[in-house]
Amino acid sequence: MKTSGGSDAAKRRAGESAARTVDDGDVVGLGTGSTAAHAIRALGDRVDAGLNLRGVATSFASRELAVERGIPLLGLDAATGPGGVGIDVAIDGADRVADGDLIKGGGAAHAREKLVDASADRFVVVVDPSKEAAALDRPVPLEVLADGRGVVAEAVQAAGGEPTLRRAERKDGPVVTDDGNLVIDADFGTIADPASLAATLAGTPGVVEHGLFVGLADELRVGTEDGVRVTEP
Ligand code: A5P
Repeated sequence: MKTSGGSDAAKRRAGESAARTVDDGDVVGLGTGSTAAHAIRALGDRVDAGLNLRGVATSFASRELAVERGIPLLGLDAATGPGGVGIDVAIDGADRVADGDLIKGGGAAHAREKLVDASADRFVVVVDPSKEAAALDRPVPLEVLADGRGVVAEAVQAAGGEPTLRRAERKDGPVVTDDGNLVIDADFGTIADPASLAATLAGTPGVVEHGLFVGLADELRVGTEDGVRVTEP
């Protein structure tokens, strides 16, 4: 599983505290990344202790961990849409948090994460303090159709950004997402108006999903060295 900076103890406090808020019978969106993984492990422990819940995975990695920890799973299609059972709460990490808005996609899972997180009745974000900033100031991951990468790169430049195709670390060539697409990291510097940039990116042909999560978070849990800070953006 991809790891990122920040203290693992702080991530664990944030993830485990979110897992404690899950109620019996809940359908739970299972986020991706090292912080959400702590929540998944804690939910596995609660299942072992008799809690009745079903998970909806946001990635191959979160599904793999959930299976390993004995968490019953529902497909995204069974949980959402007309006739779906719904998602009570989603617990997911973030790469950057400012004013309750997020940049996600460091693990290239943001398209499925957004489907799950946005569908949940309550979206709980779990981070360590290294993710907090005054403004969103990291490159925005874009999941893109492979043949559309040139079109998207041009559009990013036209919007004032610098596009970089994400390269794999232990494979020649680019990162390929769980859905077979590529990832462009689009660097816009400090993002003054996340909602406006999100609208621009959402309207760019070839972009399957962008990693700006604007106005989606219901609760922010920041693990610290000695506790958890909880706010509602
Ligand atoms: C996955 O694509 C991302 O959106 C993750 O949720 C994000 O990178 C957070 O990961 P960490 O908890 O490992 O920092």
